[in-house]
This record gives sequence, structure tokens and C-alpha cells, in this order.
Amino acid sequence: MSETVRRVGVVGIGNVGKAAASAVLHENIADELYISDIDSERAKGEAWDFADSIELTPSRTRVLEVPLEGLAVCDVILVAVTERSQIPTQSRLELLKGTAAITYDIVPKLRKAGFKGTYVIATNPCDIITYLFYKLSGLPKNHVIGTGTALDSMRLRRQLSQVIGDVDPRSINAFMIGEHGDSQIAAWSQATVGGQPLDQFEEDNVDEFGPIDRDQVEDAARHFGWEIHTRKGNTQFGIGNALAFFAKSILNDARVVTAASVIQNGEYGQNDLAIGVPIILGRNGVERIIKFRLSEKEQEGFNGSAELIKGYIKQTLE
Ligand code: LAC
Repeated sequence: MSETVRRVGVVGIGNVGKAAASAVLHENIADELYISDIDSERAKGEAWDFADSIELTPSRTRVLEVPLEGLAVCDVILVAVTERSQIPTQSRLELLKGTAAITYDIVPKLRKAGFKGTYVIATNPCDIITYLFYKLSGLPKNHVIGTGTALDSMRLRRQLSQVIGDVDPRSINAFMIGEHGDSQIAAWSQATVGGQPLDQFEEDNVDEFGPIDRDQVEDAARHFGWEIHTRKGNTQFGIGNALAFFAKSILNDARVVTAASVIQNGEYGQNDLAIGVPIILGRNGVERIIKFRLSEKEQEGFNGSAELIKGYIKQTLE
């Protein structure tokens, strides 16, 4: 048997980092889980607390607290850093100043320490921070991935499932694309149910569930993060599990289709930014960007979203 040791790191052990670490342990995703936080004593406490649960998980994962540079040996680093004092009131974009400063601090250090694996970034505003990671890390484009609209796409499928007769969201193919924020859009023209175009599925079943109110479903998906945030002050389990799903898909070479925020090479007519699009996720990180033939209206919405992200990137790089 080969001796491959799967190493996953989590940087930032707040609410999201903890949910991600817990999912990594309970889904047997890593042989070694490295936890790092600016507050190393707190991270040590969390690591020991996780280590206490190992007999109750399907794995024998070793959980270690490490200084930032200690993460450089990982195959995948899950990024959940944020500035604790910053509670956004309106938009994820309000976090940018604080989280960009952390990014400028930690990414060059990990680069110097020789990190050659894949970053999966949940830190908001996700698209802009993902782009900064790409610029500062020296890693190839396919090794820097933001969770982007992955979770929003799951929200979309769940909302849609509820209005089309409770079809399992896993049998629905539908994606939110664009910014992980208010300007994201649903790529309705590409949505399918069991492989059948959504429009046809709707036509065949219109007597049962009536016409789909696409705007309502899309808005619900777009704003669901805030619905949670306004009630509990953060989102944690959805995004934490999404991070673990990305790590698992990379380590298992799952080649699964998901939305993610990735560096563009003109696939959607855009370059030099990270933005949410459907990808194939596997051992090499972004194995492929799937090029949707968007409707004119969707492409317009996507372009608007891209321009917004680019504006913030410019501001951050200046
Ligand atoms: C959310 C956070 C990750 O949408 O922005 O839950």
C-alpha cells in the first residue's frame, strides 16, 4: 500500500474554521489536520478539543496546532481567516479592508515557507480575496479556488427543489454564478432536472406546481446567507461543510462539478479576476472551467458582477 499521507490545513479557527475542521474529521478526509490561528493558544485548545473526539470519528486523524508556516506541508489549506472585530452590516464587501490586510500578511509567509498545494478560500469578500491569494501566492491558477457561489448554488437548488415538487436537489443542475454577493445571478438557461431542461420540466408539470417564480427563487438563494447572518450573526455550517467538500473532492480526485470562484482565462469573456463559474474539481484543483452558453440577459448580469469585482480588486491593489 502506498504511504500517501493526506494533509489538510485550516487557517483561522473561528466559527467557519471549526465547522470545516469538524467536517474534515467526521468524513475521514485527512490523515493529518493542521490548525493555525493568530491566537495560537486558542488554536491549541481547539486542536486538543478535536483530538478528544477522534475515537468517535471514522478516522484516526492526527490533529495538530501549528504556526502559520507549519501549514506549508499541507496538500490543501482551507482559508477561514477573518477579523474578529469586523461584523458586516450590509454586505460582505465591508470586510475587504480587514481581510485584505490579513491576506497580504499570511500569503507571502506561506509562499516563503514553500507551500505548493491548493488553497480553498472562504474568507469574504471571497472573489476579491481569492484573486489576492492568486497574485501573492505564486501558485498556478488551478491551485487557488474560492468557495464563491458554491454554497449559493446549493441554496438555489434547495429553493428550486421546494417549488418543483420536492425533487432531490442533487438531481437538479442549477448554478448561481458571478460574485459571491448581491450581484450574483442564476444561470437559468442552463438549469436541468434529471438532465431535462428546466423549461421543459416546468412545461410538463405546470398543472402540478404552476409557473416557477424564477425571480423569487433566485432572490431567495442570493439573500439566504444574510437571512442566516441577521439571525445568528454569522454563517458557519453550510460554508464549513463546503470547505471540507472542496478538500475531499481534491484529495479524492472526485472530478465533481461545482460552482467556485476561479481565475478567468476569457471563458466568459473576462480576464484577470476570480469569479464564480461552474468548474470540474479534482486532484489538480480546477481541472476545467465549464463554459455555459449564457442568455444575453445572463451574460449582461455576469459582466456587471465582474465589473464590480474588478473595481474592488483595483482598489485593493492600489
Ligand atoms: C455565506 C458566507 C460564506 O454565504 O458568505 O454563508
